[in-house]
Amino acid sequence: MLPCRVRLNRCLTSPCFLATILASDPFIQFDDVHFRYGNRPILDGVSLSIPQGKLVAIMGGSGSGKTTLLRLIAGQLHADRGRVTVAGQDVQQLNTAGLYALRRRMGMLFQFGALFTDLSVFDNVAFPLREHTQLSPSMLQDLVRMKLQAVGLRGAASLMPAELSGGMARRVALARAIALDPALMLYDEPFTGLDPISLGTIALLIKQLNQALGTTAVMVTHDVHVSLSVVDYVYFVAQGKVVAQGTPDEVRTSTDPFVRQFIDGAPDGPVRLHYPAADFAADLGLQGIQHA
Ligand SMILES: Nc1ncnc2c1ncn2[C@@H]1O[C@H](COP(=O)(O)OP(=O)(O)OP(=O)(O)O)[C@@H](O)[C@H]1O
Ligand SMILES: [Mg+2]
Repeated sequence: MLPCRVRLNRCLTSPCFLATILASDPFIQFDDVHFRYGNRPILDGVSLSIPQGKLVAIMGGSGSGKTTLLRLIAGQLHADRGRVTVAGQDVQQLNTAGLYALRRRMGMLFQFGALFTDLSVFDNVAFPLREHTQLSPSMLQDLVRMKLQAVGLRGAASLMPAELSGGMARRVALARAIALDPALMLYDEPFTGLDPISLGTIALLIKQLNQALGTTAVMVTHDVHVSLSVVDYVYFVAQGKVVAQGTPDEVRTSTDPFVRQFIDGAPDGPVRLHYPAADFAADLGLQGIQHA
C-alpha cells in the first residue's frame, strides 16, 4: 500500500484513499490551486485527485467555490497559481484548439442547463451529434434512441420541452450531455428542484452511466444523503481549501465538524451562512452608540 499523501487536510480514510488514486491514473489533478475573483480569494491552495472512472462529489457551503472548481476543470477559468491537470494535460497550457478538443470529451449537466425550447426532445439530444460529428441520419437516429433509452425516455422523443416535467427535462439534458460519450462528466447540482423520486432516478442514472461508460464524473451537490449512496468519494471544501475527504462510509461515521454539519444539516458550525461583510453595527450606523 502506498503511503498516505494527504497533508493539507483531514483525510478520513484509513488506509488512505489517495493510495488507491495513486495506484490508478488520476483523471483530474489539482496541485495547490489558488484563484481569486478580482481581489477576493476564492481558492487558497486546493489539492485534490479524481481517479479515472470514479464518481466523486464535491461538497461545501454556498459560495465556497465549488462551481469555480468545475470551471477550472473545464478551462473556463484559469488558476492564479498552481496547476489543474485533466486527462494528463495542463489545462492552462492549452491553446484554443486544445481546449475545444478537451471540452469535446466533457459532458456538463448544470443546475440551470436549459433545453432548447424550440427543439423536440429528439433534436435536443441530436444537437451535439449534428454539431460535432458527420454521422449518417440513420446512425444519428439510432444513437439518439440509445441515449434516450439510457435515461428511460425513448418514448418521449417527439415531445417538446414544454411538455416535460422538471425531472424528465433533467433526464433529457443528461441524455444530451452524454450524447458524445464523454470521458468526463461535470455535474453542478444536478438534483436541484427535483421531487424525491426524480432525484433518486437521476442519482441512479448518474451512477449507472458512470459504471456503464467508465466515465469519470465530478458532482457538485448539496444533497448529502442521495449523493453518498452513489458516489465513490467525497471532498469537502471550505475557506478556499479541501478541509475533509473520504469514502461515503467514512463520511457517514465521521466526527469531523465540517462533515458533521453537512450530514446533520446543522445551521451552526464551521460553515457560515453569511457572505463576508463589514461590521453589522457599523453598517447600521450604530458604532460608538452606548447603551444605557
Ligand atoms: N464571475 C464572478 N465574479 C465575481 N465573483 C464571483 C463570480 N462567480 C462567483 N463569484 C464569487 O465566488 C464565490 C464562489 O462562487 P461559486 O459559484 O464557485 O460558489 P459555489 O460553492 O458554487 O456556491 P453555490 O453552492 O451557492 O452554488 C462566491 O462568493 C461568488 O460570489
Ligand atoms: Mg455553485
